[in-house]
Amino acid sequence: MARSQLSVGLIGYPVDHSLSPVFQQAAFDALGIPARYELWPTPAEVLDERVRWLRGPEVLGANVTVPHKAAVFTRVDQVTERARRAGAVNTVVNRGGVLYGDNTDVPGFLAPLRERGLPLGELAVVVLGAGGAARGILVALAEAGCRQVTVANRTAERAHELAVEFGVVAAPLDQRLEPCLRRADLLVNATSVGWDGASLPIDAALLDALPATALVYDLTYRDTPLLQVARRRGLATIDGLGMLVYQGAESFRLWTSQEPPLEVMWRAALAARQAHEQASRRS
Ligand code: ATR
Repeated sequence: MARSQLSVGLIGYPVDHSLSPVFQQAAFDALGIPARYELWPTPAEVLDERVRWLRGPEVLGANVTVPHKAAVFTRVDQVTERARRAGAVNTVVNRGGVLYGDNTDVPGFLAPLRERGLPLGELAVVVLGAGGAARGILVALAEAGCRQVTVANRTAERAHELAVEFGVVAAPLDQRLEPCLRRADLLVNATSVGWDGASLPIDAALLDALPATALVYDLTYRDTPLLQVARRRGLATIDGLGMLVYQGAESFRLWTSQEPPLEVMWRAALAARQAHEQASRRS
């Protein structure tokens, strides 16, 4: 007897450039789970309806992306502690009509750092940005017990608010950041600057202040100008593809209660990114 088709998908607006359908579908197929991972473009005015629909018996759950992570947080029935601290849900699990919200961006961000065997508790970290993405990173850095965290943002007030909430230091996003960078082991770009492939969130010359052993981590899942400049200065870099795959793997684990096939997901994500890059070069 054929098993009925299950659905899971990505709620956001827009969602059409997402790599998630490719690597999540590869994971479902590899394990023979009869589920389809779909794109669910959801304008704000139909978000309530979309969330209600997630309670149906054929729906495993969803991923949530910009701009709905905070709104979905307030619409599910229960949230995990890390989702509560982040104020954002990126994964919804439907268990018999009850919706559970989690935030797998938090472990997803830490996974590539753990993979490198970094002593997370000893790190001094500078985070660029104070939006939703930066907030998730601050939750992760607190969970990892990092020694010192500085949050730098263009709009000082937002950095200050996060600094108070997370007990970290606020800094401006300009030359005054230099002393912090001199002491940093890890620089994280959690601003939206770099997607265009042309701009940097800070003056390129500021990267000279980083110690030669520092690591530069950009949450963007492409090779950004920040990462390119960092590499030219001989610094180690990480782009956001690993975080994307690991957050997706944790979501997969929550939906299916099965071990995610990480290798399969990685390979599919790398191929999808390459295809996107080729398509954008052609257009
Ligand atoms: P997300 O949820 O992706 O974090 P967001 O909440 O809109 O999105 O936050 C975007 C972040 O990128 C903010 O830190 C923003 O700085 P402001 O708080 O000053 O707006 C930062 N950002 C966006 N464009 C920027 C730019 N051109 N220069 C510097 N920072 C920028």
